[in-house]
Amino acid sequence: MNSSKFPDWMRSVQQRTEVALGRILPPSAVTPDRLHEAMRYATLEGGKRVRPLLAHAAGEVTGARPDALDRVACAVELIHAYSLVHDDMPCMDDDSLRRGKPTVHVEYDESTALLVGDALQSLAFQQLAEPGLLTDVGRQIEMVHHLAIAAGSRGMAGGQAIDLQSVGQSLTREALEVMHVHKTGALIRASVCLGALAGHYCSTDVFQRLDHFSRRIGLLFQVVDDILDTESDTATLGKTAGKDAENNKPTYVTVLGIDEAKRLAHELESEALELLEPLDDKADAMRDLTRYIVHRRF
Ligand code: IPE
Ligand code: IPE
Ligand code: MG
Ligand code: MG
Ligand code: MG
Repeated sequence: MNSSKFPDWMRSVQQRTEVALGRILPPSAVTPDRLHEAMRYATLEGGKRVRPLLAHAAGEVTGARPDALDRVACAVELIHAYSLVHDDMPCMDDDSLRRGKPTVHVEYDESTALLVGDALQSLAFQQLAEPGLLTDVGRQIEMVHHLAIAAGSRGMAGGQAIDLQSVGQSLTREALEVMHVHKTGALIRASVCLGALAGHYCSTDVFQRLDHFSRRIGLLFQVVDDILDTESDTATLGKTAGKDAENNKPTYVTVLGIDEAKRLAHELESEALELLEPLDDKADAMRDLTRYIVHRRF
């Protein structure tokens, strides 16, 4: 894919993800209507859809069917949306703005926010368990297994626990990496892995290369998130800028300083792009997406 086609590719994946999410989320009119309305509020019309984009880009490398990728994209985005709803709650980061709108516990209430997260997580796994998603059922179970690990205590939820335990502490660079790799990296890694698994069998070398790439990009994503929290503004981010400092969170900016954090982001970008080098032009979307993740403004 020629780089000039990337904005169209990105828009098209974002649009088809929006349509697919709109279809699988229960309608607001269905009982319990307030919960369903809040689930739709938390998930639809917002966000960059980076995880769905990564799943589709990986699926392009392995020639996956677009409809299978839509399911995978929804699964990872639903886990992400759930993680954001809980991340914003008063017991965690206590944020009132997300994707340019009041957070779910502010717009609804705390118990609804808790249940929205629970229900979105179940809905995510329901997508991967869909009969006929892949002809190879063993492979489909492998996808469920990967996502379960990525979302659980050895992945995102565990990373969030480390994040909360680290408030007010000065972490070493190594400890910070462990936190970021879990809270954000695990789901990003799963997005790439699931997208690749949805396609044809690829060689172990290609699969391992993609996996290695996804670990670099997972860390990179949170490094950039930390930088944007200090350098951007609330209107651009659609979430409260400066929240990490306000909550006394150790970040790449507090641990390394802003210049070193930016240098690290560029180093991770180069490493990630280098890992994609041996892949043919089917990896072009992934290459452009890597650059987008580093140079995004929100
Ligand atoms: C924000 O994720 C939370 C992190 C894991 C850093 P995104 O930056 O992907 O948020 P949306 O989905 O675009 O709103
Ligand atoms: C969130 O990290 C990670 C997860 C939601 C799992 P942050 O707390 O830095 O995300 P933002 O900045 O609120 O989006
Ligand atoms: Mg947080
Ligand atoms: Mg937060
Ligand atoms: Mg952040």
